[in-house]
Amino acid sequence: VFSPWLTAVLAYVVGSIPSGLLIGKLFFNTDVRLYGSKNIGATNTYRVLGLKAALPVFICDAAKGMLGVWLMGPIPENMLIGGILAMVGHNWSLFLGFKGGRGVATGLGVLIFLVPTVSAMCFAVWAIIVYFTKLVSLGSIVAAALVPILMWAFNAPLWYIVFGAVAALFVIVRHRENIVRLLQGKELKVVRTKSGDT
Ligand code: G3P
Repeated sequence: VFSPWLTAVLAYVVGSIPSGLLIGKLFFNTDVRLYGSKNIGATNTYRVLGLKAALPVFICDAAKGMLGVWLMGPIPENMLIGGILAMVGHNWSLFLGFKGGRGVATGLGVLIFLVPTVSAMCFAVWAIIVYFTKLVSLGSIVAAALVPILMWAFNAPLWYIVFGAVAALFVIVRHRENIVRLLQGKELKVVRTKSGDT
């Protein structure tokens, strides 16, 4: 219905919708940016408000990635670009002065239909790391780095590998502060606390 350029902009705008901030403010009267890691993603929403808030945030953020992919369909390469644009919107949001989240849930939403096997394997690695360390950022960084590597291992088209690498880079770049805290041994665990601090 729309021109490709308009759909591309739409994918970015959809990605920009800050689910964590909106759900926290509208339903829990809390700005999650004031607590814990100050991030607007499902992880920090869980720390500050628990699962009843974190789950909807995760679902909405993943849905933004899926929507980005769907909007640019049906050509797979375009769909990947739509997904990446939704991730860019989430990480550098139009509505938050180009600040935003880390792009993990949105990235999963992008990849789940395009490369289901790779997504499932990355999710499994993420879950194992998070289960044993309680460090979601560590799981996210490792899982993101695995995306292009596994795509290559499973003979995905070059286009996929390139965009997988770009998506991984966007996730890792947005984890800069987490990486510093991890190296200092000061990273916040994913534990439910009133102040979000662990
Ligand atoms: O998906 C974000 C996660 O990897 C880290 O979240 O709140 O610990 O910075 P947070």
